[in-house]
Amino acid sequence: MYISKQISTLQPSATVAFTEKAKALKQSGRDVIVLAAGEPDFTPPASVREAVAKEALEGPTTYGPTPGYPEVREALAGYLERTKGLKVTPDRIVFTNGAKHAIFNAASVLLDPGDEVILPSPYWVTYMAVIELLGGVPRIVEGKSTNGFKITPDELRGAITDRTRCLIFNNPSNPSGAFYTADEVRAITEICVDAGVAIISDEVYDEITYGGGPFLSPAAVSDEAADLTALVGAFSKTYAMPGWRIGYLVGPQPWIGKVTSFQGQATHHPSALAQAAALACIRCEEDFVGMMLKEFRKRRDYLLEAVRGIPGFRVDVPPEGAFYLMVDASEAIAAVPDVSGDIEFAIWLLEEAEVGLVPGEVFGASGFLRISYAASMEDLEKAVDKITGALNKLGI
Ligand SMILES: Cc1ncc(COP(=O)(O)O)c(C=O)c1O
Repeated sequence: MYISKQISTLQPSATVAFTEKAKALKQSGRDVIVLAAGEPDFTPPASVREAVAKEALEGPTTYGPTPGYPEVREALAGYLERTKGLKVTPDRIVFTNGAKHAIFNAASVLLDPGDEVILPSPYWVTYMAVIELLGGVPRIVEGKSTNGFKITPDELRGAITDRTRCLIFNNPSNPSGAFYTADEVRAITEICVDAGVAIISDEVYDEITYGGGPFLSPAAVSDEAADLTALVGAFSKTYAMPGWRIGYLVGPQPWIGKVTSFQGQATHHPSALAQAAALACIRCEEDFVGMMLKEFRKRRDYLLEAVRGIPGFRVDVPPEGAFYLMVDASEAIAAVPDVSGDIEFAIWLLEEAEVGLVPGEVFGASGFLRISYAASMEDLEKAVDKITGALNKLGI
């Protein structure tokens, strides 16, 4: 069967590919610790599970409105006001099949072929794939490890041209764990507003932060900013339910109306069961995120110190958000014979240390490795021992 030119160069997600490779080795009987996945190792609150079960038994099974049920959009509008100080009417919200779908919708409705998209690196793998799929031109701005992987306002300003359509801004960041403070978000947003550059603001890790003050969405900076921001959110990370595929996109009218038409022709609304889950997350009385955060903080603190003790591994600035640690492994890579670059090193680590990590190259950060600490403390400790042991065996 013919494969279109547009799709022929598309690759599977590299993070998923590495996770699957590590899991396959584990299934073959090896004692592999997989720290590659981007999903919390927690179970969603009981009230959320019960709401989904109730919806399955008693809820409608007919088609619903493309952007999601009015009751759920209304509830999300209230939630966004409570948590982010945003005043949005429900007609500015479209529920999607996870944040990934929201990003694809937003980019599809924003980009013409040849449009430039500013992409701070290290970046989440899907952004690059989506830009390329839509014929956009990525303009990478490197977030330096010495600056906590954050780009500066001057670096952003320097990357804007008369062809720039949008900035993809992910705060807190996967893969780096970088967290932009409210002042930094304000500065970046104002530059975009002045230049008329839209912002796809991926906020899926918004509540998972360890310092740096309160989270600020670019959409909350000013009315002008809200009119230029496509806010992407989800319950996948904050409520530990990525498999239920529910996210959302918030944007100005009439732009969001076109998103609704696009989604209506492509996938229609997300499952009613997933929408019931979202509603239950919004109404959840338990401090579920706080509970996860406490655990994540313990693991981050442990891992940061332990990883800094591994020969040839370096972390310049502690991550302040999400559940990832980006490690500069260039010294270790150079010390291992017959290994060149972080991809080969990640494969070497999987085979020799039995630890599955994602190489930085796939995020546009050569020489680095991403460690996900969405894993038990026991696994983290074991992984550090195994990596240290494998390097020590070579006299490193
Ligand atoms: C930065 C970022 N955005 C979006 C997503 C996708 O979220 P969802 O599972 O809701 O599609 C991920 C998942 O890893 C992510 O890390």
